[in-house]
Amino acid sequence: MPKTDPAFTAFSSDCVRRVEKALDTCLPPERIEPRHLHQAMRYATFNGGKRVRPLLVYASGLACGGDMDALDIPACAVELIHSYSLVHDDLPAMDDDDLRRGKPTCHKAYGEATAILVGDALQSLAFELLSKPTTGITAETHLNMLHVLANASGSRGMAGGQAMDIDGVDQELSLPELEIMHIHKTGELIRASVRLGVLTAGGSEEQLARLEHFAKAIGLAFQVQDDILDITENTHTLGKTQGKDAADNKPTYPALLGLDGARQKAQELLEEAQDALNGFDGAAKHLRQLADYVVGRKH
Ligand code: IPE
Ligand code: IPE
Ligand code: MG
Ligand code: MG
Ligand code: MG
Repeated sequence: MPKTDPAFTAFSSDCVRRVEKALDTCLPPERIEPRHLHQAMRYATFNGGKRVRPLLVYASGLACGGDMDALDIPACAVELIHSYSLVHDDLPAMDDDDLRRGKPTCHKAYGEATAILVGDALQSLAFELLSKPTTGITAETHLNMLHVLANASGSRGMAGGQAMDIDGVDQELSLPELEIMHIHKTGELIRASVRLGVLTAGGSEEQLARLEHFAKAIGLAFQVQDDILDITENTHTLGKTQGKDAADNKPTYPALLGLDGARQKAQELLEEAQDALNGFDGAAKHLRQLADYVVGRKH
């Protein structure tokens, strides 16, 4: 958490507790058939993720005067999509990783076919949750939220970015091409998290525009930092195999700009994100701290 700010540590622990409790309620119990699939869905969801996307949903909602209870479902929905994306990202046909969040990847623990189905099922569950009638949320808002998450997850969002990533192996991408890839594969779900928070809280158009700008900058910064950590941290800290990007000849910011250039890029994006919050009062404090955390994190 950002330089151990106790207020932010308390906020983030509270959010993590909330979203994990809500996820536990939403996911089918392990004892229900098909048990193997339900166990694997829980394995892929409750394995020590940082829950940055839920934190963004809560912090953006609070910045627009929203209520924490109403933010639980969108926070769960985006985390389910994220967890699914990691299960598929680790598959042999994609990044072929053995370790995720310090434990064997889903396909290592449960087999490849089950891991594919875990991704499918987590994705469907995310949309099922967002479509359920909720007290205080209009049907129009539900539709808007579904639209936002569907766009961010599909071929014009995360899945499209993953396709660019796979196509980019052994290729020399230009900086704009790399940026487009990062904005899609990671930035879009981060932008969706912020948008879901604003929609749930009933934020104004102006608030949405400012937070969209914030999200674009911090979403890109998130993946730039992920690329940096792949080089600078060890496997134990990362909870995933260190040096995997270089081993697979992936296009990354450090590969293109060098480590210092990538660090500078992350700092510039952080400043841009903080500037985008200028029109907000103290209610945006969690977002400010979260931005610092994203760029300062070690895993
Ligand atoms: C890792 O995401 C994959 C990227 C999109 C860079 P996180 O760093 O948020 O992973 P967890 O959820 O905390 O494990
Ligand atoms: C993953 O990017 C992005 C998505 C899962 C959408 P990476 O492949 O860099 O993520 P890690 O490093 O395996 O977590
Ligand atoms: Mg990948
Ligand atoms: Mg990967
Ligand atoms: Mg990575």
